Amino acid sequence: MIRTLALSALVATLAITSVSATEDMSKWLRPSEIPQPKNNKLTPERIELGKLLYFDTRLSSSGEVSCATCHHPKRGWTDEKPTAKAVGVDGRVGPRNSPVVLNTAYQNRQFWDGRARTLEQQALGPIEADVEMNMPLDVLLPKLRKIKGYVELFEKAYPGEGITEKTLAKAIASFERTVVSTESPFDKYAKGDKYAISDKAKEGFELFAGKAGCINCHDGFNFTDGSFHNIGLHDGELQGKELGRYLVKMRAAWYGVMKTPTLRDVAKSFPYFHDGSVKTLEEATAICAGGGRFEHNVKNKSLSIVDRHLTKEEIDKVVAFMHTLTGPDMDLTIPTKFPQ
Ligand code: HEC
Ligand code: HEC
Repeated sequence: MIRTLALSALVATLAITSVSATEDMSKWLRPSEIPQPKNNKLTPERIELGKLLYFDTRLSSSGEVSCATCHHPKRGWTDEKPTAKAVGVDGRVGPRNSPVVLNTAYQNRQFWDGRARTLEQQALGPIEADVEMNMPLDVLLPKLRKIKGYVELFEKAYPGEGITEKTLAKAIASFERTVVSTESPFDKYAKGDKYAISDKAKEGFELFAGKAGCINCHDGFNFTDGSFHNIGLHDGELQGKELGRYLVKMRAAWYGVMKTPTLRDVAKSFPYFHDGSVKTLEEATAICAGGGRFEHNVKNKSLSIVDRHLTKEEIDKVVAFMHTLTGPDMDLTIPTKFPQ
C-alpha cells in the first residue's frame, strides 16, 4: 500500500514536471507558420522554380557554381570547406565563411553583418559578387529569358511578371523559406519526452541556459537573438581585421560586431564563426564561455562574453546538448535535370 502510494506520488510528480516542462519549453519549438512577405506568399510553383534556380550552375559565369556550391543541403546548408572560406568561381576566395541557409526565413537580417533585411534583398548579391557567382544580372536575365523551360516556369509562378530581377529574387527566396529545421531530439525533449536526450545533454542544456550564459544571445527556437555582438574573436584595433557590422554603417558601436548565428543543426555546419577559424564545437564553446579569444583591449566586446570558468567536463556537456539540436536532413529531392 505504502509502496503504491509512493509510486503514484512519484508518477504524479513526474506528470507535473513534464507538463510544466512542456509549457516552459514551448519557446524552443518551431512556430508553425513560416514568415513570408505579403507580396511573395509561398506557392508550390514558386518553391519549385526557386529550387531549380538554387541548384542551377548556369547562374554563374563559369557555369560551375550554384548557390548549393556554398550552401549544400548535404553539408549542413554550408560548404564545410577546410579553407573556411567560400570558394566560388575559378576558386576565388571570399572574405567570410559561408553561413547556413537553414532557418533564414526566421531572420530579420541576412549576412554576418546584417546588410540585407529580406531573403529577396539577399538573393541577388551572391549572383553578382565576383568572389561568388560573378554573373552580372544584365547578362543573366537575357540568358534565362532564352531558356524556354524557365519562361514557362516563371509564368506559372509569377503570371504576367516575366523574368526580372524581382521575380528571380522572389523565386530563390521562396525556396529558401522552405529550408527549415526538422524535429531534433531536443524538440522531442521540449515537447515532454524526457528520454529523448541523454542526462549529459540535459546537464549541458542547464549550463547553456545558466552558468555558461549562452542563452543571453542564443535564445528562442532558432537559438539566436537576431542581434549583433562582438564576442572577442579579434583584438582591439582590428587593423586589417573584420570590421563586421561597422561596414554597413560606420557606427562606433558596430565595430567588429557580427550576427548571432543559429545553433540548429550546428554540428553539421563546421567550421565555425564568420572567419571559419574554429573546427570543433568544443573549441567554439571554450571561446564563447571563456571571455572570447582575446580577453583585453577588445572594443565593444559584449558584456555577456566573460570567463564563465567552465571545466572541460562542463564544456563537453554543453557540446552534447548542442548535438541534440541536430534533426534529420529535410525531405528534399535535389534536381538533376534543369529547364532547357
Ligand atoms: C562562393 C560561395 C557562395 C555562393 C556561390 C553563394 N553564397 Fe550565400 N553566402 C556565402 C557567404 C560567404 C556568405 C556570408 C557573407 C557575409 O556575411 O558577408 C553568404 C550568405 C548568405 C546568406 C545569409 C545567411 C545568413 O544567415 O545571414 C544567404 C541566405 C545566402 N548566402 C544565400 C545564397 C543564395 C540564395 C545563393 C545563390 C544565389 C548563394 N548564397 C550563393 C557564400 C556563398
Ligand atoms: C554575447 C552574445 C553571445 C554569447 C553570450 C554566446 N554567443 Fe555564441 N555566438 C555569438 C555570435 C555573435 C557569434 C558569431 C561570431 C562571429 O563569427 O564573429 C557566435 C557564434 C557561435 C558559434 C558558431 C556558430 C557558427 O555557425 O559559426 C557557436 C557554436 C556558439 N556561438 C556557441 C555558443 C555557446 C555554446 C555559448 C555559451 C558558452 C555562446 N555561444 C555564447 C554570440 C554569442
